[in-house]
Amino acid sequence: MNASRSDLTYGSFGFVGVGKLAAQMVKGLRRAGMQGPIHLLPRSRSISDELARDWDCSISESRHVFARDCDVVFLACHSRDVPNAIAGIPFTDGNTVISAVANLAVDVLSEQLSGSPSIYRVMPSMAIEYGVGAIPVYPGAAPVERLLSLLGEVIVARDESHFDALTAATCCHGWMYAILDELIQGLHRGGLTVPEARSAVLSNVFAAAQVCVRNPLVRPRDFADAIAKPGTYTGLGLSYIEEHQGLWALEGAVSEVLIALRERKFA
Ligand SMILES: NC(=O)c1ccc[n+]([C@@H]2O[C@H](COP(=O)([O-])OP(=O)(O)OC[C@H]3O[C@@H](n4cnc5c(N)ncnc54)[C@H](OP(=O)(O)O)[C@@H]3O)[C@@H](O)[C@H]2O)c1
Repeated sequence: MNASRSDLTYGSFGFVGVGKLAAQMVKGLRRAGMQGPIHLLPRSRSISDELARDWDCSISESRHVFARDCDVVFLACHSRDVPNAIAGIPFTDGNTVISAVANLAVDVLSEQLSGSPSIYRVMPSMAIEYGVGAIPVYPGAAPVERLLSLLGEVIVARDESHFDALTAATCCHGWMYAILDELIQGLHRGGLTVPEARSAVLSNVFAAAQVCVRNPLVRPRDFADAIAKPGTYTGLGLSYIEEHQGLWALEGAVSEVLIALRERKFA
């Protein structure tokens, strides 16, 4: 789905909790051409001062004014901080709250938030800043999906257990940077400059992702098996990764994260 600003139901936005994710979302919204007001309700000021100065945001003078002025409120603090962060904000059924808090289900949020705003959950990655990446949302609703589609690829979760699995997929995004860095450093030790290694790794990994996107019916492993035959250099490397449990470790990491998410391990 590709929305344009003129398709959108919402005109004004707000952020409760103005940390890393809020900053990335603000930049993503502005880069997508969103010109409406963005109001911030921060605790400390360093990030919100930068967003006010460089990204056309304003810092709300009161919680009452904030609730009145925002069609959509993004909740972007940690679950342990939610009670204090939302205390005294007089939400009404005119507000839509989109929560990026990993641990709080919709029914828990609805008990904590005053009034009766519409409530949705999202779990984007930091790539939202550049308008790319998956954005799990629960529940689905056309206006919210249109808004989020400005910022990435919206995936509607069937239920909150499905949302947790999509959250684990968002965690995979974070691991990719560590994997890319290992490949770059290995090639650097092998004789490439860091910029050469970086460029070669990123374009090859990007190309593999593109091939998979263009061939949705082919299992990625089938491409690997077709290339990495015994007696080839690619095959030698893949065998090394498998012998050292590299692929198994990735699968194990997904299941560890899922268990932790379903146990609500981190606040
Ligand atoms: N970063 C990501 O890529 C990402 C992606 C998906 C979901 N999330 C989720 O988004 C949430 C925020 O993550 P983050 O990485 O942005 O964390 P963060 O950088 O630590 O930001 C959290 C912000 O919440 C603020 N806060 C805490 N208590 C508050 C209160 N009482 N009133 C107002 N603001 C308060 C903090 O203010 P101070 O500046 O004063 O400490 C901080 O700026 C988490 O639940 C995380 O799981 C993050």
